[in-house]
Amino acid sequence: AVADSLYVINSFASKFFDEQLFNTEDGQAIAMSYLKERGFREEIIKKFQIGYNPQSRDTLAKALIANQFNKELLPKTGLVTVRNETELVDNYRGRIIFPIHGNTGKIIGFGARVIGKAEKAPKYINTPENDIYVKSKILYGSYFARVAIDKADECLLVEGYTDVVSLHQAGIENVVASGGTSLTIDQLRLVKKYTNNLTIIYDGDSAGVKAALRGLDMALEEGLNVKLVLIPDNEDPDSYVNKVGASGFKDFIATNKKDFILFQLEVMLKEVGTDVNKKSDLVNQIADTISKINKVEDFTKQQDYIKQCSAILKIDEGGLTTLVNKYKR
Ligand code: UTP
Ligand code: MN
Ligand code: MN
Ligand code: MN
Ligand code: MN
Repeated sequence: AVADSLYVINSFASKFFDEQLFNTEDGQAIAMSYLKERGFREEIIKKFQIGYNPQSRDTLAKALIANQFNKELLPKTGLVTVRNETELVDNYRGRIIFPIHGNTGKIIGFGARVIGKAEKAPKYINTPENDIYVKSKILYGSYFARVAIDKADECLLVEGYTDVVSLHQAGIENVVASGGTSLTIDQLRLVKKYTNNLTIIYDGDSAGVKAALRGLDMALEEGLNVKLVLIPDNEDPDSYVNKVGASGFKDFIATNKKDFILFQLEVMLKEVGTDVNKKSDLVNQIADTISKINKVEDFTKQQDYIKQCSAILKIDEGGLTTLVNKYKR
């Protein structure tokens, strides 16, 4: 089947990228030195099978052809593209390669990062959707995080590849990445297989937080407890853990974890100011959100939120209860 062939091609390519990183001059001089400069050590590079695609136009393409892979199928992997109708060229030239492992550990795709600053080209190129790479179902790092998530009974969610790898290196292994986009129902269900506790650790810029907020109602409907930690000063988990160290990072997370519903309420309350209509909209919105906690066993949790939110909003608790019940229907 197509899927099996794609797995085989990806596995071959990943070995090729490892070989290029570890056993070529350019791999060492250009790619490994960049990775080391960023603080990644060999042990973690090997664990995540991080590699390098050389700069020249068709090094991988040639190797794939020499190994007689199906030429029709190759472009589907996103590793190569057809040029001038017959010629195959590499897509990830001069990039660091992050393989993406599916839940059974097989490689389903790649994220390819430019080395150094992204000037004109996009910073990352990712595998296009195909038979085995379905973006909405993937959390980067899930294969390496499963055991730790189960043990901690908590899943940390970050934005990017390098956040996952750096936190692992710091001994924080219950971590997966969304790829910076808003969470999908399938990604939340994947988390739910291992734990009910999701902690979102995003950088403080509004884009990241807004992306996370969009997933909140869905997460609540799935019965997840959602906490939020915002990383300060234009840092992200990768840069922050490199700055403050493993124990500094853990301390920061422990003391800055906020309940996501209450966080959302506080953010929106600031926008409302003294506008009565906006406040009424907000009360409705928060009632709607609370109503999404609809599992029977979460009844006390719902009561708790009604109490806390009505206090923050300075409105009557009974009134909010009535409104929440209205949204439940
Ligand atoms: P970021 O821009 O925060 O990158 O995007 P990063 O993960 O911190 O990467 P480094 O540290 O600069 O190397 C977060 C995530 O969004 C996706 C990637 O999954 C990235 O890890 N992204 C970002 C893309 O897919 N394409 C892009 O061009 C940029
Ligand atoms: Mn469990
Ligand atoms: Mn960002
Ligand atoms: Mn980032
Ligand atoms: Mn980063």
